[in-house]
Amino acid sequence: MKKNLQIAIDGPAGAGKSTIAKAIAKRLELFYVDTGAMYRAIAYKALNLNIPLKQEEDITRMARQTDITLEHSEARRVFCDGLDVTEAIRSPEVSRSVSVIAAYPEVRERLVELQRQEAGRGGVVMDGRDIGTYVLPDADLKVFLTASSEERAKRRWLELQQSGKRLSLDEVQKDMEARDHHDQQRAVSPLVPASDAIILDTTGLQVEEIVERILNLIKNKPEIG
Ligand code: CDP
Ligand code: CDP
Repeated sequence: MKKNLQIAIDGPAGAGKSTIAKAIAKRLELFYVDTGAMYRAIAYKALNLNIPLKQEEDITRMARQTDITLEHSEARRVFCDGLDVTEAIRSPEVSRSVSVIAAYPEVRERLVELQRQEAGRGGVVMDGRDIGTYVLPDADLKVFLTASSEERAKRRWLELQQSGKRLSLDEVQKDMEARDHHDQQRAVSPLVPASDAIILDTTGLQVEEIVERILNLIKNKPEIG
């Protein structure tokens, strides 16, 4: 296997990116970098400090002064200015706010710098929206995961139920569709498959099946596998 392999996994909300990326990182002993957690940490901090999301300059200034650390151990805790925000950044409020701050070019610039630093540490599986198109344009494998909107909403709804958050399935689907729309329409690094990405529709597929398919894609690429 090639040294310092870079695998980019992009796609809309609930497509299974982080579940699949973590499993592949474990199997291939690579770092896993959850770029969405970084955007979520900035949105969480803005909400906490009562900075109106529309104030781009204030949000950008705050992002530049924010320290974000992603733990690489199994627990994968996320720290924002030294504070453990792992659970807090998954709240529906943060999910509703994050795509607003993710559209700000200078917020992205700051976080992409951190993401590329992480990739500089060694082989990596990175998931997000613009990994194949912008963050790691020379990644060895680019996968764009999708699934029907209904299935993605159901997956996220089940997850929220399990963590005690009682939202209706309809509410979750509407929130997700609004966020995906925002992510697809923004001017900078919108959610779009890279021209050299492999598009995998995961509707009806189990996690293990998807992981095996991606591992096979790697094995069958002679220059890396
Ligand atoms: O887990 P889920 O797919 O719901 O979202 P996430 O990966 O945690 O990302 C949260 C949000 O951060 C996305 O909806 C985007 O607005 C933003 N994001 C981004 O713009 N670029 C990335 N590389 C990763 C996330
Ligand atoms: O990161 P992203 O928002 O793309 O999705 P995720 O957080 O990895 O997956 C959302 C939920 O769907 C998790 O609870 C996964 O266990 C579940 N999932 C699933 O049931 N079947 C899949 N093929 C992929 C994910």
